[in-house]
Amino acid sequence: MTTLEQFLRAHPDLRFIFTGGKGGVGKTVTAAALAYFFATQGKRTLLASLNPVHSLSSIFAQDLTGGEIKPVKGVNNLQAVEVETKDVVARYRENISRRVREFLKWADIPVDPRPFVDIAVTNPAFEESAMFDKMMDMMVQEKEAFDVIVFDTAAVANAVRLIGLSKIYGLWLSRMIESRKEALSLRVQLAFRKDKVMEEVKKDPLLADLLSMNERFNQVKELLTNGTQTAFFFVTLPLALPISVVKRFITMVSAYDIPVGGVLVNGILDRKVAEASDEEYLRNKFEEQLGYLQTIKQDLGPMVRSFIPLYPQEVVGLHTVATVANDMLHYMPDFWEDL
Ligand SMILES: Nc1ncnc2c1ncn2[C@@H]1O[C@H](COP(=O)(O)OP(=O)(O)OP(=O)(O)O)[C@@H](O)[C@H]1O
Ligand SMILES: [Mg+2]
Repeated sequence: MTTLEQFLRAHPDLRFIFTGGKGGVGKTVTAAALAYFFATQGKRTLLASLNPVHSLSSIFAQDLTGGEIKPVKGVNNLQAVEVETKDVVARYRENISRRVREFLKWADIPVDPRPFVDIAVTNPAFEESAMFDKMMDMMVQEKEAFDVIVFDTAAVANAVRLIGLSKIYGLWLSRMIESRKEALSLRVQLAFRKDKVMEEVKKDPLLADLLSMNERFNQVKELLTNGTQTAFFFVTLPLALPISVVKRFITMVSAYDIPVGGVLVNGILDRKVAEASDEEYLRNKFEEQLGYLQTIKQDLGPMVRSFIPLYPQEVVGLHTVATVANDMLHYMPDFWEDL
């Protein structure tokens, strides 16, 4: 097994970290702990929450709301942002709306653009598209200001769709660009000499807009699939459902050539705790956990990077985040070896 510590040492140039997994398994906690770790290594680190409901403020026990990047008090080099879905969606809606209007105007289609805009912005994946767009923005814009960005993504289905979307997005963009070029050159060919056609085509604002979207998209795709710079970590608990979600997730992500950093197993009930207890409940839980850990070892063994103990209380406050970061790197349940 390659531990998290070994993995991080072997990947000194990581810049984009993602945590994924079923709801409630500890994605935000592990994202925070990873960000904390990078910051304490002296890397300028940004922890970005892209969830509809945020929990960074509660984890760090300080106000990180408002959608702006704020320094995390008490840790050098660490800043955090809870991206406001509402603002992102509103801005994205405006952009789409502008594009639809421009397109209809350019195509000389004298219709009310509103129904077209409505269709575009009420599709079920719209919010995710908007968040994906925002994430792309951050990857491109903040990469000079920060050495490492840790993204705390939303629920599993959402993140998978984000990734799936990126392929469709690229396809859609290149089609749009091609058809725009064709239409333009036909029109321009009538008005200009042949050697001037490409020059004129390049001046077209709609095409320029599409080209810059495409360039940004390709840039992000390159970053997202770059195994030295990017790693997706999947978080699970020793329970059936979260494990199967992680397996499904790893298969999907690998199909998109997105590098998997590994699996973080959260919420481990320590043997000492279980055995010291008079509660039959805890001892039963411990036995049950052994079964699930066996499954994890069998199905995901080589991908497992670390274990995080189940704490007697929630992860709240800086020193608890520090504990998670430390345990994530050093805690090893004594029963793992013999499973
Ligand atoms: N190892 C642990 N021991 C004790 N409590 C934990 C542990 N890991 C996470 N928690 C608690 O479990 C809850 C869920 O954790 P977290 O918010 O990180 O999950 P999540 O996967 O981000 O959830 P969501 O899908 O809602 O975003 C939080 O209250 C957190 O403090
Ligand atoms: Mg979360």
